[in-house]
Amino acid sequence: MILTESAPAKLNLALHLRRRRGDGYHDLATVFAFTQFGDSLSVAPSRELSLSVEGDFAEAAGQGRDNLVMRAARALAEAAGISEGAALRLEKRIPVAAGLGGGSADAAAALRLLNRFWGVDWSLAKLLALAEALGSDVPACVASQTCFGEGRGERLAAWPITLSGTPVLLVNPGVAVPTGPVFAGWDQIDRGGIPIGAGLQGLRNDMTAAAVGIAPVIAEVLDAIDRAGGATLVRMSGSGATCLGLYPDLASRRVAAAALASRGWWQAETALL
Ligand code: C5P
Repeated sequence: MILTESAPAKLNLALHLRRRRGDGYHDLATVFAFTQFGDSLSVAPSRELSLSVEGDFAEAAGQGRDNLVMRAARALAEAAGISEGAALRLEKRIPVAAGLGGGSADAAAALRLLNRFWGVDWSLAKLLALAEALGSDVPACVASQTCFGEGRGERLAAWPITLSGTPVLLVNPGVAVPTGPVFAGWDQIDRGGIPIGAGLQGLRNDMTAAAVGIAPVIAEVLDAIDRAGGATLVRMSGSGATCLGLYPDLASRRVAAAALASRGWWQAETALL
């Protein structure tokens, strides 16, 4: 028996930084959203716990025991007292170190998948406690629904505006941007939080300036999506370098994607879950 679970890419439709904390993290406010596009994780019976990674970004993701999928699997096995193994296979389509939460999405998918496969049968709420220890974005990825996040991203609340089905264009210029240095480059000016349900156009990604400082091509990507036209929102996701456009319909997303194709950047045409 082989079971499969999708690992939707994570977007930050807005990301406001509030405060650098003493523990090395930042308090933030964010609107998380997820796309139909993502990685895929499958599992087959095995005595040992193992992971093989395939797909466009397999090499960048790494095969080893340190992959977040393996850490998630070990955490669940330990917490639930499981001694069985699992042969996991990850199809890696989400670019790595790209602001799309790829590793977090994979870890969350591993929790959901093995929860079923091993018959652990925990509620999503119970999986969240394990998710939090694996990374700041992992709890949001467990639910993979548009939501509001606070704290270091682990305190979640409902987002009252339905965005499901909204066409999205993702554009990544092929520069891996490590998260830590982008946080470190923030000017530490608190520009305010996110009122629940606020219009997205009036919100920001406060990591943009620092990310552009590390990878100047991000400014070009944002400008190119803007100039391609039709987007209701153009924004960098997470700590970059992926930028997104939201569109009112499929036709306008297609027109923008076609206009940008000649740049030779990685692109994905998808929609919000
Ligand atoms: O939680 P996670 O392991 O995904 O975070 C990776 C790094 O990103 C942290 O070590 C920290 O430097 C930074 N980070 C942060 N504030 C957050 C989330 C992440 O400073 N809210």
